[in-house]
Amino acid sequence: MPQSQPAPPVLAAFEAAPGFMPVDEGLALYAAAADAAGRLGLPLLEVGTYCGRSTVLLADAARTAGVTALTVDHHRGSEEQQPGWEYHDASLVDPEVGRMDTLPTFRRTLHAAGLEEYVVALVGRSPQVAAVWGGPLGLVFVDGGHTDEHASADYAGWVPHLADGGLLVIHDVFPDPADGGQAPYRIYRRALESGAFTEVSATRSLRVLRHNRPAA
Ligand SMILES: C[S@@+](CC[C@H](N)C(=O)[O-])C[C@H]1O[C@@H](n2cnc3c(N)ncnc32)[C@H](O)[C@@H]1O
Repeated sequence: MPQSQPAPPVLAAFEAAPGFMPVDEGLALYAAAADAAGRLGLPLLEVGTYCGRSTVLLADAARTAGVTALTVDHHRGSEEQQPGWEYHDASLVDPEVGRMDTLPTFRRTLHAAGLEEYVVALVGRSPQVAAVWGGPLGLVFVDGGHTDEHASADYAGWVPHLADGGLLVIHDVFPDPADGGQAPYRIYRRALESGAFTEVSATRSLRVLRHNRPAA
């Protein structure tokens, strides 16, 4: 039986990490990760590491099930995290190169949670990593670039690696454009309209979809 909640030090590391995910969405992500890892025994993959806030939840579920959490990010930040934009954090700029670098903060978050050995960080552009990735995945969590170009490339690149019965989790799904950008919503619709997914849960903007076995 998978644990239904992350371990208390992990939840503390999640809450202390810079990032954008509220606790209720984090608990829903953890529950999906624990379910997928427990049922399928396959790696869990995240697109969009940032500072590791959501990664520690996947890592804790991976630890419990004896699998590995993989997390992909170029660590240079998304469009809306660049200087002058709404989600910019100046403390995350590398003064030597003058660009965002979230990798050192991510490593501190993982260390604080005591979960370094359960995570493989893939530093690079998501479509490029997806193109060379070879194995099946138990869960794909899409929280990378929020433009149509990036969200649809994440969907096209990673969904083919998702095992039958695996979970696709999408963050920042806003059916009403007044609440936020539409790119994650569009890949959520694409997944449902493909007929290959069934919705499992919705927690604020976090959607969990189950990959169905293709009809025989
Ligand atoms: C919204 S943040 C992720 C937040 C994180 N999941 C959390 O809960 O704290 C998006 C991240 O995606 C990364 N990113 C955006 N486009 C990317 C791409 N094409 N390839 C790899 N990483 C990308 C950015 O560098 C940024 O760190």
